[in-house]
Amino acid sequence: MKIRAAVLEEFGRPLEVQEIDLAEPKAGEVLVRLVACGVCHTDLYTASGADPSGYSPAVLGHEGAGVVEKVGEGVASVAPGDHVVTLFSPQCRECAHCLDSRTNLCLAIREQQNQGYLPDGTTRLSRDGEPIRHFMGTSTFAEYTVMPEIALAKIAPEASLDHACVFACGLSTGLGAALNTAKVEPGSTCVVFGAGLVGLGAVAGCRLSGAWRIICVDPAQQRLELAHGQGAHDTIGGGPDVVEQILEMTGGLGADYTFEATGLVGVMRQAVETARMGWGLATMCGVAGKGETLDIVPRLLITGRRVAGSSFGGVKGRDQVPQFIDRYLAGDIDVDPLISHTLTLNDVNRGFELMHAQDGIRSVISFDS
Ligand SMILES: NC(=O)c1ccc[n+]([C@@H]2O[C@H](COP(=O)([O-])OP(=O)(O)OC[C@H]3O[C@@H](n4cnc5c(N)ncnc54)[C@H](O)[C@@H]3O)[C@@H](O)[C@H]2O)c1
Ligand SMILES: [Zn+2]
Ligand SMILES: [Zn+2]
Repeated sequence: MKIRAAVLEEFGRPLEVQEIDLAEPKAGEVLVRLVACGVCHTDLYTASGADPSGYSPAVLGHEGAGVVEKVGEGVASVAPGDHVVTLFSPQCRECAHCLDSRTNLCLAIREQQNQGYLPDGTTRLSRDGEPIRHFMGTSTFAEYTVMPEIALAKIAPEASLDHACVFACGLSTGLGAALNTAKVEPGSTCVVFGAGLVGLGAVAGCRLSGAWRIICVDPAQQRLELAHGQGAHDTIGGGPDVVEQILEMTGGLGADYTFEATGLVGVMRQAVETARMGWGLATMCGVAGKGETLDIVPRLLITGRRVAGSSFGGVKGRDQVPQFIDRYLAGDIDVDPLISHTLTLNDVNRGFELMHAQDGIRSVISFDS
């Protein structure tokens, strides 16, 4: 079929929205009609050429939500008409990692996905017979996509897909960092560094865990206001004195749980240094620049602080994204303030500009508008 999609032709150039071909879903694959898709830093990171593992031509986009149109042979977990959120982090439910509660890093299709292919090593996207590669296994800057069944979370049909798409990446990452990776205990003190979608999700996750006090750190004042809305009690502007400030605010000891959601290694270090002696856990969500390293004074670890990393918040997507959506429907998670702009697919590059200008938290492409 012919579809319109935003194609990365050349690194560092705007994406080009054009008509391309999409083949039928093969065995284990699903055709999804996109209704909404968030514009995320990872898309821009690849489009800019900064990602050393990037490739082109490819259809970018990974924060999709839509409706199943057609299923390939053997697909049993979704059917036409189902509402789904796309998962760049799949869940096969069979590999050693899927069967272990300690991780969400499914091993089933990693290699092919990283190279831009569907699990059988080919693409469904093409133009004039030449293959165009998939991105993150999702390629959701497009009217339709073909994806592996194991990379789709079936969600409640009542949820607005324009809102559901933010659960495909940043929001679930933050929620999961608090709920899965750190397993924040009720009554705890938490510090969240960064109030983008990931950090705001972590604030919400700490609140849902029953944290007693949540401190959010970000130099952007308007983002700190959003952090209050997600449940932060105290906010501070960040900078070199932030460690001292937080130690002072926490009786000299630091917080039970800290979360880093900036991608800055200097802030990661602050997250370790503000975790409490004895049991403080610092969880890293940010993706640091290539070659950067995190400096930690070993004494901080010997005296009981721990460090963890969190990919997609440790969320096993097919199981847990639908649960997050249910909590959103129940009124536990406030998504409205996180969506600042609604764009058409033609305006996808405007989404990158808005992100660059830190204008709002998420721009969402609406395919029905
Ligand atoms: N682990 C994962 O699976 C996963 C998933 C999505 C995103 N990420 C990563 O998480 C990070 C955050 O993503 P996002 O979408 O929320 O990004 P974002 O850019 O919207 O938010 C980052 C925030 O950090 C703030 N900040 C800058 N300097 C700071 C400082 N010194 N102290 C405190 N805050 C500071 C910025 O003002 C901004 O609000 C990125 O590195 C992103 O690549 C990771
Ligand atoms: Zn993303
Ligand atoms: Zn698996």
